[in-house]
Amino acid sequence: MAITTCVFDAYGTLFDVSAAARIAAEEPGRGALAAVQAELAEDWRRKQLEYSWLRAVTGDYVSFWQVTQDALDWAMARQGWDDLELRERLLALYWELAPYREVPFMLAHLKARGMQVAILSNGNPDMLDGAVDHSGLRSYFDAILSVEEVGIFKPSSRVYDLVGARFGCARDEVLFVSSNGWDVAGASKYGFRTVWVNRAGLPQDRLMADPAHVLNELSTIPELI
Ligand code: LAC
Repeated sequence: MAITTCVFDAYGTLFDVSAAARIAAEEPGRGALAAVQAELAEDWRRKQLEYSWLRAVTGDYVSFWQVTQDALDWAMARQGWDDLELRERLLALYWELAPYREVPFMLAHLKARGMQVAILSNGNPDMLDGAVDHSGLRSYFDAILSVEEVGIFKPSSRVYDLVGARFGCARDEVLFVSSNGWDVAGASKYGFRTVWVNRAGLPQDRLMADPAHVLNELSTIPELI
């Protein structure tokens, strides 16, 4: 079937999640953060994902914003920091993460080709609205779908079900794009056509199913359609 609908993961795929720690580290008086910025960003993201998976397995759903705060608290505790001002600054930056450079042009191309375009994210709606509005990308999206509707995180199939429920399309009409290997594995097994965006040149995850395509950034997505 021809692809009618392009669906993007948000954090790490459209929006650069490492930007919050990087931007904060460049601010005056943040020498301690600057020294461990990459490690803090990595701990924050890893714990955020681990907590989302564990809460999906146990059924103890809380919003992704709560998971994001819990993960940051762990990452800061690991550094031995109890700095409320820095915590609030990092969290505020998470609401205005910049999109990757090629995103606006790529989305414009997809819309020009008549695609339905959506976000499907673990993020709760107000977090996603913050990032989308701050990036000025709102007009490119036909829908911003959040796991909040089903109360479980990806890669539960109940989350991928939101796409068909919203657009009425078949699974193989969907091109699903994510930088997360585990998300792409879940979506591939579900029956979406998939793209893994492997910016870091990582090995492919050994999971349920392989991606149909592997790219190192997003600019050539329209050529896959
Ligand atoms: C998301 C996370 C998983 O946006 O990146 O769903």
